[in-house]
Amino acid sequence: MGILAGKRILVTGVLTSDSIAFHVARLAQEEGAEVVLTGFGRLSLVERIAKRLPTPAPVLELDVTDQGHLDSLADRVREHVDGLDGVVHAIGFAPIEALGGNFLNTEWKDVSTALQVSTYSLKALAMATMPLLHDGGSIVGLDFDATVAWSSYDWMGVAKAGLESCSRYLARHLGPKGIRVNLVAAGPLRTIAAKGIPGFEEFEATWDAKAPLGWKADDIEPAARATVGLLSDWFPATTGEIVHADGGFHAMGD
Ligand SMILES: NC(=O)c1ccc[n+]([C@@H]2O[C@H](COP(=O)([O-])OP(=O)(O)OC[C@H]3O[C@@H](n4cnc5c(N)ncnc54)[C@H](O)[C@@H]3O)[C@@H](O)[C@H]2O)c1
Repeated sequence: MGILAGKRILVTGVLTSDSIAFHVARLAQEEGAEVVLTGFGRLSLVERIAKRLPTPAPVLELDVTDQGHLDSLADRVREHVDGLDGVVHAIGFAPIEALGGNFLNTEWKDVSTALQVSTYSLKALAMATMPLLHDGGSIVGLDFDATVAWSSYDWMGVAKAGLESCSRYLARHLGPKGIRVNLVAAGPLRTIAAKGIPGFEEFEATWDAKAPLGWKADDIEPAARATVGLLSDWFPATTGEIVHADGGFHAMGD
């Protein structure tokens, strides 16, 4: 029996078969979960990708900046499952003006987009799905270590620092309802979101040189496994935590 047997999991953030969310959804199904996906924008593409899962999964439209989508999400999820045991937040976006070394000149409208989509959305998604998490559950978000400043990551780094803090506050406010909130801080992975960050490939060389376990930027499995682990019952007393799936990079000094 898989570690997610009988669990109902909502997975956001599938865009391509390289998306971290796609591998989380695949692994969750392999571990016994029933999966519902949400997609943003290019829904027909997401629907096509959803058919490549071991069990084709339904896709619901969700733009986290659209309050109507958020307000109707619980009812739309209920058309497929009668509740949820887990929710995966794999959503990030920053306009190009907020990335790639333009930090000092980025305007608030671009910063606010990055923060709304990449940071505030964790709280928005938690609130939108709370009516379905009646028996507690696990919310897991995807993070990139925000304890230091990276070249080119700029306002996305600020957004991730906010995400880290947001997950701790959610852990505080949702703990009494039995809902755990944790993040997986992955090393650099070659996804569409990553390709949108100018100079992202430089992270790969940095990781190659420093991660004691080594790092493969085209292998999504370690980040997906950590996410599925946190969705399972095997971390019952863990919340407000950041689990690093980064080859050990974060723990090394040089
Ligand atoms: N790729 C990496 O190196 C890496 C490393 C650590 C963390 N992460 C994080 O993992 C998460 C998933 O990214 P990915 O790398 O799989 O790339 P991806 O491009 O496959 O996924 C990003 C997702 O965000 C969604 N999205 C963007 N704007 C949205 C909106 N307004 N509403 C709803 N969804 C929206 C996109 O549709 C897409 O599905 C992101 O939070 C990213 O920051 C990525």
